[in-house]
Amino acid sequence: MPLHGHTVLLTGASSGIGSQLALEIARRKPKTLVLTARRKQLLSTLAAEVKKECPDVECEVVVGDLGKPGGAKTLYEDCTKKGLDITALALCAGIAKAGEFASWPAEEYETMTAINLSSTFVLCRSVLPTMLERRRGKILFVASQTAYAPVPLFAAYAATKAAVLSFAEALDAEVGHRGVGIAVVTPGGVASGGNFDATAGMNVTKLGLGLFGGRILVPYPYERSEDVARAAAHALDRAGDLPRLWPSPVQFTSSITGALTSFRGVLPRWLFARLQGYVMAPGIPKSKGGSGEDTS
Ligand SMILES: NC(=O)c1ccc[n+]([C@@H]2O[C@H](COP(=O)([O-])OP(=O)(O)OC[C@H]3O[C@@H](n4cnc5c(N)ncnc54)[C@H](OP(=O)(O)O)[C@@H]3O)[C@@H](O)[C@H]2O)c1
Repeated sequence: MPLHGHTVLLTGASSGIGSQLALEIARRKPKTLVLTARRKQLLSTLAAEVKKECPDVECEVVVGDLGKPGGAKTLYEDCTKKGLDITALALCAGIAKAGEFASWPAEEYETMTAINLSSTFVLCRSVLPTMLERRRGKILFVASQTAYAPVPLFAAYAATKAAVLSFAEALDAEVGHRGVGIAVVTPGGVASGGNFDATAGMNVTKLGLGLFGGRILVPYPYERSEDVARAAAHALDRAGDLPRLWPSPVQFTSSITGALTSFRGVLPRWLFARLQGYVMAPGIPKSKGGSGEDTS
């Protein structure tokens, strides 16, 4: 049940992992690829790139703000008004707030929760009834390594991603055997070049993670956004394929992240959280990490 013939709605398409994912999805020849985010100009440029590389794929741009109340519902309604019958979802939109939890205004957490988590509920709720009726559909979630254990200085972000992972796994058990393929990827750190780098402190931690108060830097195994995108597109393409060799919907985007996840499993969560906070702290600015606003 590959992507061929599907109409795929991709969120977070304007930059970073999402823009690479758009190209990887297009290369798998869906009927239509719908690109969405807030920055229209970036989406239009990407759509032209998709058209050039994959002329057989119809590419549409639908601008939407998932951080606004009702934003996800409006986005789905706008797609419907354009006659787009969404048969596959790739949920990549996300923002991070790095730094001490109390250093960000409460409203920023409301917006982050809307983008990272609530919009995934609303979009899945919008598409699932038809997918189940037709016994045909695919949903990809872009979660994060931070989903597996508490992460000090990324406390709220990690909580949204843990919820996304839990939701994806539960949904897989609910609908996975009814024709709707669910896939979830959990990338580690990716210096993806977008707003995320600034708000997650990726620009600061690029050299490595600090030990002993930042006096010793150890190289951090950053993943490349194109590799993450390729693995994610493959996971979406294969979602729903039966029989699945491994019953979990989770696909690792690199062997190092896979190994790190297994290592996390042997440590108590409280201990892992403390170790993680110790290692990350020197790379994260003490004050707020950035606005996460439209910078195009
Ligand atoms: N970078 C990493 O280290 C890393 C690691 C693991 C997982 N991830 C996850 O991967 C995904 C992509 O991250 P990235 O590094 O590629 O970040 P990025 O380059 O900053 O991209 C974020 C995407 O989300 C969209 N977005 C942000 N706010 C939005 C809003 N209010 N409404 C609609 N769309 C919005 C942005 O588009 P507009 O600004 O144009 O709206 C952009 O297309 C996120 O879910 C992130 O949590 C990232």
